[in-house]
Amino acid sequence: MSRKPVVLVTGANGEVGHGLINALADEARYEVLALDLREVDPGLAKRCAATIAGDILDGHLLDRIASEYEIHAVFHLAALLSTRAEFVPETAHAVNVEGTLKLLKLAMDEGRSHGQPVKFMFPSSIAVYGLPDLAAKAAAGAVTETEWTTPRTMYGCNKLYCEQLGRYYADFYRQLAVNEARGQVDFRAIRFPGLISAFTVPSGGTSDYVPEMLHAAAKGEPYACFVRPDTRITFMAMPDAIDALLKLTRAPAEKLSRRVYNIGAFNPSAGEFADLVRRHFPGAEIGFAPHEQRQAIVDSWPADVVDRAAREDWGHEPAYDLERAMTEYLIPNISKRYA
Ligand code: SER
Repeated sequence: MSRKPVVLVTGANGEVGHGLINALADEARYEVLALDLREVDPGLAKRCAATIAGDILDGHLLDRIASEYEIHAVFHLAALLSTRAEFVPETAHAVNVEGTLKLLKLAMDEGRSHGQPVKFMFPSSIAVYGLPDLAAKAAAGAVTETEWTTPRTMYGCNKLYCEQLGRYYADFYRQLAVNEARGQVDFRAIRFPGLISAFTVPSGGTSDYVPEMLHAAAKGEPYACFVRPDTRITFMAMPDAIDALLKLTRAPAEKLSRRVYNIGAFNPSAGEFADLVRRHFPGAEIGFAPHEQRQAIVDSWPADVVDRAAREDWGHEPAYDLERAMTEYLIPNISKRYA
């Protein structure tokens, strides 16, 4: 009886899931097992070796997966994003933290069973940061991985703690046990900025105002932006996010000086982004109606990040600056999509 070797992708139906599964399928190096709470989108399912609709908190389901599949890498994308999590903080904690713990344990068991380290790829977020006010945000400028990690959202707390859990499973798991082998879980995380995809719209995030503004303009719908025009955080085009995730996955372990990396690409203010959208869609109706609490969340996220370690250790280098992202990736694909 042999089990089928796969890489497991949780949260497959999400924005990153779409981009990642297509990229993994193009590469054809791995067979993908896709897991999502809902049936995996048919277009995506075609590109996977197998798909499962189920809950990452369901221990029996994870056991069944382990009985049928030999897991060599986990891309653990399933999470409740920052806005949604604020309505159901305890549920968010269950999914974002306990779910991650269960998957780390699964990865550990898999590493032990087949004897090779299981790469555990974890999308963390700029939401792990929490600047106390706008003056501190302005003074901080670009933040390093270790500064201002005092998040104000449940999602940010969850991501920050899971970074630590990942490090624990990779480096210190059951450290007092005799004969406990090390290195079964190779945990690697990227703190993503807000992501902008031409093909999907996010749901439940707080950086969503940028992708929402763009997709609304392409559809010819008016948009009321929920933050002030001067609001500034980092963003990235989806292909660069997927590319970064794959680059970090492939990087030799000895090149990595840390387990958690910042990455960034560009950081327009909401007003600057609105001007750019109007340039490409001259009829776009974009207004600003700041939502006090969501504004406060975005104000607590840094205007920029230092991503030197990612550039030096594994060659992070976004192909798209904002101009190129718009003209070569977003506008052509979005226009086609809503034509
Ligand atoms: N884009 C995410 C959010 O807004 C941040 O990781 O919640």
